[in-house]
Amino acid sequence: MLVLGVESSCDETSVAIVKDGKEVLANVINSQIKIHERFGGVVPEIASRHHVYQITLVFQEAFRVAGVKPEDIDLVAVTQGPGLIGSLLVGLNAAKTFAMMYNKPIIGVHHLAGHIYANAIEHEMKFPLIALLVSGGNTELIYMKDHFQFEIVGETLDDAVGEAYDKVARVVGLPYPGGPHVDRLAHLGCDSYHLPRVYLDDGSYNFSFSGLKSAVINLVHNLHQRNQDVNVNDLCASFQDSVTEVLVRKTLQLAKKDNIKNIIVAGGVSANKGLKERFLKEAPQDYNICIPSIKYCTDNAAMIAVAGYYQFKKDPTVADLTLNACASLELQSK
Ligand code: KG4
Repeated sequence: MLVLGVESSCDETSVAIVKDGKEVLANVINSQIKIHERFGGVVPEIASRHHVYQITLVFQEAFRVAGVKPEDIDLVAVTQGPGLIGSLLVGLNAAKTFAMMYNKPIIGVHHLAGHIYANAIEHEMKFPLIALLVSGGNTELIYMKDHFQFEIVGETLDDAVGEAYDKVARVVGLPYPGGPHVDRLAHLGCDSYHLPRVYLDDGSYNFSFSGLKSAVINLVHNLHQRNQDVNVNDLCASFQDSVTEVLVRKTLQLAKKDNIKNIIVAGGVSANKGLKERFLKEAPQDYNICIPSIKYCTDNAAMIAVAGYYQFKKDPTVADLTLNACASLELQSK
C-alpha cells in the first residue's frame, strides 16, 4: 500500500511516499528555519506564504525521488492539526486537490500521532507502551495499549519542553531554534549551576517547565547585574540535566507503576542526545527504549504517511473534500 503523506503544520513543507507503513521511498522536507531565524521564532504569516511557494515543488520532488506516479498512490494522509492554521491549510488544500484530481481516498492525521508513529519506521512498536512526546508545543506522557489507542496520562501545565529550550537559548544569545544548540553546548559543560528539578508533589504525571525557565532567566540577569560572565556551556549543561532528569525519571516511574517495558520517545526534542543518553543509562536493561533517528524526530511527512497507514488499518473511514484544518485538535483513539 503506497501512502502519500503531506505535512505543513509549522515551518516545514514536507511530502513523503511510504510503502506499507515502513519503507520510505521519499521524504522531501523544505525547512524554513533560515527564514525565521532572524525573527527568533516562526512568524505565522511568513510561514504560510513560504508553504505556498514550496508545496508544488515539494510534491514534484517527492514523486521524482520515489520513482512512482500519482496514479500509483493508494491513500493520501495529511496533517489536519494541531498547528498554525495558515500553514496547515496550505498542505491540506494541496492534498485535497491531489486526492480530487487522481480520485484517491484522503484522511486527516493528527500531528502528534505522526510524531509517535515516526518510531514505527525503524522499530516495531510493541504494546502496551508509554510514549513520551516532547516537542516545541507539547510535552505529554501517553499510554497506548494498541495501535491508535491514546490515553494522555500526563502533560505540561505551562511551557512545552522545546519552548523552554528555545527560550533559554535566546537568553544566552543562541540562534533559533535553540534546542540543538543547547544540546551541543551542554556536552561541553557541566551541571555547575544546579537548577531546580520540578517534580510536582501532587502524585500526577504532569510536568512544569516555566519555573525552570524563569530560574535560568533570573540567574543570567543576576550575573549580568554583577558584571559576571555566564558560563554558557555550564548553563546549557545545568538546564539540560534538570530537564532530562525530570523527563526520564517521571517516564520510568510511570512505566514501573504500570509494569510497562516498552517506551517510545517522540517529537522534536527526542533528537536530544542528553535525553537519549539518560534513558539508556537509567532504564532497566530489559526495557525497550525506542527513539527515532534524527531525520524522523523533527517535522516530516514520512511520519504522517506512516501514522495514516496505521490509522486507516484501524479505521478505514475516509474523509470527503470538506476535510478542514484545525489549529487545536485533540488526539483521538480509533
Ligand atoms: O516536533 P518539532 O519539529 O516541531 C513541533 O513543535 O511540532 O519540534 C521542534 C522543537 C524546537 O523547540 C527545537 O528547539 C526542539 O524541538 N529540538 C531540540 C533538539 N532538536 C530540536 N530540543 C532539544 N535538543 C535537541 N537536539
